Amino acid sequence: MNWKDKFSLDAKAIKASDIRELLKLLDDPSILSFAGGIPDPALFPMNKVAEIRKNLESHPDLNRQSMQYSKTEGYNPLRQWVADKYSSAETEISQENVLITNGAQQSLTLLATALIDAATPIAVANPTYLGALQIFGTRRPNYITVDTDENGIIIKSLKSAFQKGVKLLYTIPDFQNPGGMIIPEDRRKKIIELAHEFDVIILEDTAYRELYYDAPPPPSLLTLEGQFLGEGQWHQAGLVIQIGTASKTLMPALRVGWTIAPLDILEKLVMLKQSNDLHSSTLNQIITHELSSSGLETHIDKLRDVYGRRRDTMVDALRSYMPNCATFSRPAGGMFVWITLAEDMDASELLQKALATEKLAFVPGAAFFANGGGENTFRLSFSTCDDKDIIDGVRRLSTLIQREHLQKVHPKQWS
Ligand SMILES: Cc1ncc(COP(=O)(O)O)c(C=O)c1O
Repeated sequence: MNWKDKFSLDAKAIKASDIRELLKLLDDPSILSFAGGIPDPALFPMNKVAEIRKNLESHPDLNRQSMQYSKTEGYNPLRQWVADKYSSAETEISQENVLITNGAQQSLTLLATALIDAATPIAVANPTYLGALQIFGTRRPNYITVDTDENGIIIKSLKSAFQKGVKLLYTIPDFQNPGGMIIPEDRRKKIIELAHEFDVIILEDTAYRELYYDAPPPPSLLTLEGQFLGEGQWHQAGLVIQIGTASKTLMPALRVGWTIAPLDILEKLVMLKQSNDLHSSTLNQIITHELSSSGLETHIDKLRDVYGRRRDTMVDALRSYMPNCATFSRPAGGMFVWITLAEDMDASELLQKALATEKLAFVPGAAFFANGGGENTFRLSFSTCDDKDIIDGVRRLSTLIQREHLQKVHPKQWS
């Protein structure tokens, strides 16, 4: 049977994610991985989870409820926690505006289904989160890419994308995956102004917002839009839909994320989720709510401390060892350092060599570019490695890059 001919257009449009394919390789414990953007399991609040499960046993009704079907919108106490946390003076969010999803990835899936048709023009940053490109790609949109610099989206490039009639912008303003950039407040305000001038929906993905290592990020686009529109106006006139997740601050296997949206769109997303999976795990929502309601800030402070030190170690090692043919970022939060090699170098080729000779993995950047490009870029994650591995890995990678670069500059010497 030739299954390839039988697939729907959506199924034909979906491509294997380079990252997921790479993660398969990482079952090999001898590989030092800077590839996955995953939290360090050693930092999971396991004792707290055990305590919560034990407490549930002494609350038989809630314990049974945790194993029962529940409503699509999500567990109300958790929805209320999200609403309280993300309300601002100008935009009071109620639990009716919150849908709990199976991770932020499902929020993106539902939003893509609700808002994107074939050939719909949508704006994404160059580079942007591969998982979003993967799901948007199944809708076969017309990608209009927006250039970035060390401060994220460049406003001039955004304006020219909006002038092409885009329907929505997908953006990760805080410590972006993969580039690590944070968009400063003045640019955020400009993004809101332009969205209203051109009537463009904004999908704001806050996956890494809490993981700041220098200073807290500026107000979110959701909050700034509230200020722009005036008190209570977001509910009628808001264009910002915010997506969040417990994956980076608590544990990804909870598969708990959320969407905050005005009611008209939220109702549609609820219908889509209902047809998709009925609801997210009741038990996991209860656990997430308990973990979020007490001690969360202390836990996240610990993450900031550990990841922040790993960020410093990686950036210091890059400063010490990386040859001049590579430039790199110093992210103020998140999990990623973004590297740009000399124009004529190819990060996919480099990865093959790094795996073969150094047993070292990272993610080549091209997959994060919606319309191609970025072959000379790659992403390093510092979240799961200790200092020794970070220094050793960066040193070996730098030597490899230096060798590859010299080979390109002086090919004869090496033949
Ligand atoms: C920017 C961004 N958004 C969303 C997700 C998906 O997260 P979740 O585990 O909540 O589905 C990720 C995961 O890596 C991410 O980096």
